[in-house]
Amino acid sequence: MEITVILSQENETLPKAELTARMETLGIAYTILEEYPGVIVLEVDADEDLVNKLGSHLAYSHEVLENIKHTTVEDIMKDAKEISWDEIIDGSFKVRVRRIGNGPVARNELERNIGGIIKKSSGMPVSLDDSEYTIKLIFTKPTETINEHKELSILKYNKIIIAKSIVLQDKRHFFDNKPHKRPYFHPGSMSPKLALCMVNLAHVHENDVVLDPFCGTGGILIEAGCLNTKLIASDIERHMVEGTRLNLEAEGFREFEVYWEDVRKLELNERVDAVAMDPPYGISTTLGGIDTKKLYHEALIAIAKHLKDDGYICMASPHYIDLYEVIEDTPLEILEQHAIRMHKSLTRIITVLSKR
Ligand SMILES: C[S@@+](CC[C@H](N)C(=O)[O-])C[C@H]1O[C@@H](n2cnc3c(N)ncnc32)[C@H](O)[C@@H]1O
Repeated sequence: MEITVILSQENETLPKAELTARMETLGIAYTILEEYPGVIVLEVDADEDLVNKLGSHLAYSHEVLENIKHTTVEDIMKDAKEISWDEIIDGSFKVRVRRIGNGPVARNELERNIGGIIKKSSGMPVSLDDSEYTIKLIFTKPTETINEHKELSILKYNKIIIAKSIVLQDKRHFFDNKPHKRPYFHPGSMSPKLALCMVNLAHVHENDVVLDPFCGTGGILIEAGCLNTKLIASDIERHMVEGTRLNLEAEGFREFEVYWEDVRKLELNERVDAVAMDPPYGISTTLGGIDTKKLYHEALIAIAKHLKDDGYICMASPHYIDLYEVIEDTPLEILEQHAIRMHKSLTRIITVLSKR
């Protein structure tokens, strides 16, 4: 099936990395056909159920659509009439335009005209507020120009993808799960959105055993638990251990173990499939992060022992710690890194590691 994914543009590299990691986890073979800021077009070896599963557990994607036809501004009316809309929709619908950038598009006219064609062909009513289906006209392949002030603008679009929305991100999930709404809150809790992204980058499958050895208030584990996983956690602070237990219970999870332990001394009865973690960033920036580096190094050696040979680790760390130095003399290698600018003096680095 050919799909279009509308990606969040709040980070340059994470949305695509998360999407491709999740496709790998679900065993979906894919080819990237087109790529623009915020939009990626792919051929995927998956049916609608699997695409639904893919789209419903992504932090940095807004929408997944099934492509129906590629057309152009000149041909869209003719091509839209040739589509058997009665085989595509069987309920109320609306038509929406989506474009890459700010190029010229006769949005209202197109939405109205294509809506008229679909209504006639399918016999289904238009509903702008509460439609069962959304048909999107996605304008891509722009012709760009640069003016004398070196400003880029789009002159026209050379392609329109007619697509049906399959999954629309439910923004309430992240809103309802804000850390301060949990029974136990502590400043420094990770946002649910980044936590889910890290779980996806760690290639967490359903029924996996997932470890967060620096669990804090349990934010990462809550996102991993939504995938029906067994959760294992540790923290050196007793109140964090108790807080995580409270938070996991409040989510309705039953399969979890939370240890009050220094990660470097943690002993487990089983090996884990994936690790996602957000260790402390330390205060030693002026010392070049020496203490933090030592903790990370020792922690990663300990964690590698608990990780299955084909497992992944996703970790967050501050920009001033060079993880390539940290992993020297460990059995781990760095697969990818992504930067998230938090404020003037802190950029968070999200790193994916595996065993060599
Ligand atoms: C940045 S916080 C984690 C926040 C967490 N992701 C959340 O959403 O609440 C880091 C945690 O690591 C814990 N910690 C620090 N040193 C540790 C160690 N050596 N072993 C285990 N936990 C440790 C701290 O107590 C703290 O709760």
